[in-house]
Amino acid sequence: MSTFSRRRFLEFAALSGVAGLAERLGAIPRDARAAADHSQGAGHGTAAQTVPGGAARNKLLLPGDRGVLGILDATAPLAITARTIEHAVLPGKATPLWVYEVAHQGRIYINPIFRVRAGGEFRATLDNRLREDTIIHWHGLHVDERNDTHPRYAVKSGGRYDYAFKVADRAATYWYHPHPHGLTSRQAYMGLASLFLVEDDEERALQKALDLRLGVSDIPLVIQDKRFDARGMLVYAPADDEWFGGFVGETVLANLTPQPYFDAATRVYRFRLLNGSNARLYRLSFVQAGKALDFHLIGSDGGLLERAYRVKEAFLSPGERADVLLDLSKAQVGSSVLLKSLAFDPMHLEAAGGGHAGHAMPMQGPMEGMEMDILTINVRTAVRFERKIPGRLSRLPALKASGAKDRVFTLEEKNMQWRINGLAFDMRATPVTVNRNTVEVWEIRNARQSMPHPMHVHGFQFRVLERRGSPEQQRGLALDAQGRCASDTGWKDTVLVWPGETVRIGIDFTHKFSGDQIYLFHCHNLEHEDRGMMLNYRVKA
Ligand code: C2O
Ligand code: CU
Ligand code: CU
Repeated sequence: MSTFSRRRFLEFAALSGVAGLAERLGAIPRDARAAADHSQGAGHGTAAQTVPGGAARNKLLLPGDRGVLGILDATAPLAITARTIEHAVLPGKATPLWVYEVAHQGRIYINPIFRVRAGGEFRATLDNRLREDTIIHWHGLHVDERNDTHPRYAVKSGGRYDYAFKVADRAATYWYHPHPHGLTSRQAYMGLASLFLVEDDEERALQKALDLRLGVSDIPLVIQDKRFDARGMLVYAPADDEWFGGFVGETVLANLTPQPYFDAATRVYRFRLLNGSNARLYRLSFVQAGKALDFHLIGSDGGLLERAYRVKEAFLSPGERADVLLDLSKAQVGSSVLLKSLAFDPMHLEAAGGGHAGHAMPMQGPMEGMEMDILTINVRTAVRFERKIPGRLSRLPALKASGAKDRVFTLEEKNMQWRINGLAFDMRATPVTVNRNTVEVWEIRNARQSMPHPMHVHGFQFRVLERRGSPEQQRGLALDAQGRCASDTGWKDTVLVWPGETVRIGIDFTHKFSGDQIYLFHCHNLEHEDRGMMLNYRVKA
């Protein structure tokens, strides 16, 4: 192990502050080294270490009718304040967090989960009480650039910004987070992020069919990894290699709860998973007694799939959402199921031959790609549950991509900076122009000597048309000749592109807004985004 990597590893070991350091000093680097060895086509089972101390001790924070992640039916205009508060994330410690606070009808909401009806109006004012610029972006929503909101609209400390838009999108689990250029990663890391749920008739039909209730049997799970210091403060201080590889933490939170458990009954549960991490990927799986259980993938970033897909695992990269059903109707009372991230090959190939830390360790540090526990689900209560998962969930019109204009985007490193087509973000430059009311195919090619990049398009949802050159751990999930996996079958706004992989997406740029619209195309690894792995694109009226 290089001295460089050893330093990073020791930092992690010190920060994680749990017993077993001595073993891990020996064990983890060995496994991480195996995980970094891509030449063997390795991936499955290479980094089989479980992060120690994974026993679930804290009740999962569930969204209620107020407070942290409270559900707020956004029918009237809202006043959203971005500010800092203290919240007991770790038991017995007050952690300063940066949050969105809303006072509404006598209740205080912290990072509210907004719930809106498709076709409804959303009105809000952002009041920036942080000490720096900020702005809210509504991730996944089809709105004009003024509401999107392009980073050039960021408001100064003490400033305000008004949002008003019609919710034109279908039902889905969207989310919101800051987007001031260069400051997004830190602000999101410090806590500014939550969900934006849109409901429509199809969604209501599903809720009815399976008796799903938000916060009870329909469970939003915001998954974020954090680094804490001994006093329980969030640590966000990326070193150069972390700006390059992405900043990962050793503690995985679900709904701001470390080591969470959830008490369940013998019925079907829905989990709406958001990867709200800055840089960490998850390979999600529900595991019982060491065996991966079947679950049903029913939705992706842009809402319900045509039908439920029975799977055993799904990758979820930063910015992406997965809507899943877990059938516990036949589970034994007293048994537990673990929602985990399974070990995978993190494919940090950016260092290969790059004159950096050498070949032995991924740049990322020892933690990426290792098996981790996210949530323990304890089956506690027997109930009668005889409802069936509907055969058809939605009807997704095919995108007419034939004859569409093809555009190529290459992702690669230049002078230790990630670039799209060799370009770094420039607020005033608009290197891509598309015509309104046309369909384009964007071919996103990730270099071989690279790392995974979750690529996100503002303003429009897209369809995944094809994956080429996928690594084994992705190819193994393919359902069709185009190499697409279950989550690729729906509407998407963020798609993971592995090193050496090419992903083709189809986007319909039809819209009803007046005038030109400037949106962003960027990597949702937030360190990459802030360091310029982002482009403006213009939709010409
Ligand atoms: Cu969720 Cu431009 O981002
Ligand atoms: Cu977005
Ligand atoms: Cu990236």
